[in-house]
Amino acid sequence: MNRIIITGVAGFLGSYLANELLEDGYQVVGVDNISTGNLNNINKLTRHHHFTFLETDISCDKLLNHPELIDIDGIYHLASPASPKWYQEAPFETISVNTIGTKNMLELANRNNAKLLFSSTSEIYGDPEVHPQSETYKGNVNTWGPRACYDESKRLGEVYCYLHHTLLGTKVTVARIFNTYAEGLQPNDGRVISNFIMQALKGEDLTVYGDGSQTRTFCYVVDTISGLRKMMESEETNGEIFNIGHPIEYTILEVAELVKRLTNSSSKIVFKDLLEDDPQVRCPDISKAMRMLNWKPQVELTEGLHRTIEEYKKQI
Ligand SMILES: NC(=O)c1ccc[n+]([C@@H]2O[C@H](COP(=O)([O-])OP(=O)(O)OC[C@H]3O[C@@H](n4cnc5c(N)ncnc54)[C@H](O)[C@@H]3O)[C@@H](O)[C@H]2O)c1
Repeated sequence: MNRIIITGVAGFLGSYLANELLEDGYQVVGVDNISTGNLNNINKLTRHHHFTFLETDISCDKLLNHPELIDIDGIYHLASPASPKWYQEAPFETISVNTIGTKNMLELANRNNAKLLFSSTSEIYGDPEVHPQSETYKGNVNTWGPRACYDESKRLGEVYCYLHHTLLGTKVTVARIFNTYAEGLQPNDGRVISNFIMQALKGEDLTVYGDGSQTRTFCYVVDTISGLRKMMESEETNGEIFNIGHPIEYTILEVAELVKRLTNSSSKIVFKDLLEDDPQVRCPDISKAMRMLNWKPQVELTEGLHRTIEEYKKQI
């Protein structure tokens, strides 16, 4: 496999993945509309002779006839706002990219006999009543709330993948990605790790929503990317869904305290009203990925945070 499309290439995960694939000798066609991404993430890549960049919206089907989008071996479909801050600002665009955009990329995969990896999310489990969540858990999602545009459009994206795979024979694999972090997250991205670190480094209050007892798990980017690559590269993953995330759970308050300690910050932790539909617990069961992909995260939270903090310090 050597010619790969990455949608969302100017985003956090897309740019990291593109770097790795180019280093490993792949040709990469990156597509992005620079809505939540940043051209700075791919500046260096655009000078690489195996990298082509198309600035366009993948929800528009005219893209399918683009002359660069031929002879494709694989598609990492990562385009979509991922932070609640961004998807709640652009809910209709979020629905389009995860549904129509996914349908377009499946069509492209089908024409090229290429495999598509769809980046779904742990959010499809909603506020889970089963804990930890395995891939067989069907979820507890609210259609009537501010997170629904993201959660439900990712669910419908999975349905498109299922239908293309079962009815048209398209090669697909679905990654349900749990919180991933690293220095590549834009400081203003609004996700919990970037928020806490920036607040701690600037001496501002660390904002915890609710009492901080809600839990999350945090996977360092290197581990998430290695999971996605194993999914793409293994034959056995065709038609399969995998949880990709770190299996060790922390309360949000524990994470705030850890960030404060690692940054030696004198910031205070302040509590604000819990956000609507904020899941109370979240933790992946990764036994399927361990068994079929021989994959599990290697970087522990303290180590990953340490690396992330050092890089953020250089940025401010
Ligand atoms: N990072 C995480 O913790 C996490 C967790 C769960 C799921 N995911 C999924 O992984 C994918 C990548 O996440 P990320 O953290 O890199 O997000 P990101 O916001 O940093 O990157 C997404 C990229 O997609 C681009 N994009 C959005 N709509 C587009 C469109 N219509 N056409 C073309 N490009 C478009 C954006 O400009 C951006 O560059 C997303 O699909 C997200 O839902 C990420």
